[in-house]
Amino acid sequence: MFFSSLFKPQPYVAKQNPFKVDIHSHLLPGIDDGAQSLDESLRLIKQLYLLGYNKLITTPHIISDYYPNNREIITEKLHIVEKALKLEEIDISLEAGAEYYVDMHFLNSIEDDNLLTFKTHYVLFETDYMSKPIMLNEVICRLLQKGYIPVLAHPERYIYLHNNIEAYKELKALGVLFQINAKSLYDNSKKDCKIAKKLISLGLVDFIGSDVHRMRDIKRLEAFLKSRTCQKMIKSNNIRNNF
Ligand SMILES: [Fe+2]
Repeated sequence: MFFSSLFKPQPYVAKQNPFKVDIHSHLLPGIDDGAQSLDESLRLIKQLYLLGYNKLITTPHIISDYYPNNREIITEKLHIVEKALKLEEIDISLEAGAEYYVDMHFLNSIEDDNLLTFKTHYVLFETDYMSKPIMLNEVICRLLQKGYIPVLAHPERYIYLHNNIEAYKELKALGVLFQINAKSLYDNSKKDCKIAKKLISLGLVDFIGSDVHRMRDIKRLEAFLKSRTCQKMIKSNNIRNNF
C-alpha cells in the first residue's frame, strides 16, 4: 500500500548486501531525533528490509538532558512497532538497544548494571562531538570491568579525535570496538568520510551501522552497499555485524 509511492532499492543490492544485521538506527517513533511517527517507523523499516537486512537492533538516544529515555519507554515503543510490523506482514526481526551519551546518567547506569545492550553485553555509546569527555576513560574502564564490550558509535565524527590517529589506536587498545556509519562514506569532501576511510584502511572497523534517522539515510546506505569501499571493508576488516 504505502510501498508503491516509495523509493525502492534495486533488488540486486539486497542480494549482495553482506550485512544481514544492523546495530545502529533510530526507528522507534517519537522518542528521539529519528522516526517521529509509527508510519515513518514502518516506512524506514520496510526500506531496510528491501535492502536485505533481516535483523535490526534499533538504538534510541539516551541523553539525560535531551532524550531521557529508559528501558520502559523504549520497550513500550518497541512493542508498538513490532505489532504494526506483524499486521503489515513485514518479516524482519526488530530488537532495541540504545545509543548512550557519555554523561553521569550513563556512568550511573553502568554502576547499576541497568544497560540496554545487544548480543547480551555489547554497549553502543557516543560522546560530545567537539571535546573529549573528562569521564571517557572511566566509563570505558567501568564497562570493561563489568564484562561489557564498549562499541563507539561513528568514531569518524568526533572532531577531538580527528588529526590524531594514535588516539583511535589507543581506544582500540583499551578494548573499544568501532562502528562507523555507512552514511559517512557518502561525501568524499567531508572530514568524516576521510576519517572513516582511514579507519577502514587501517583495519580498525568492527561494525558498519546505518544510523538511519530518516529516508535520506536509506539512499546513502544503498549507495554504500553498492560501493567498492564496502567490498574493501569486508576484505580488510573483521566486521562483526552478522555474528
Ligand atoms: Fe545514532
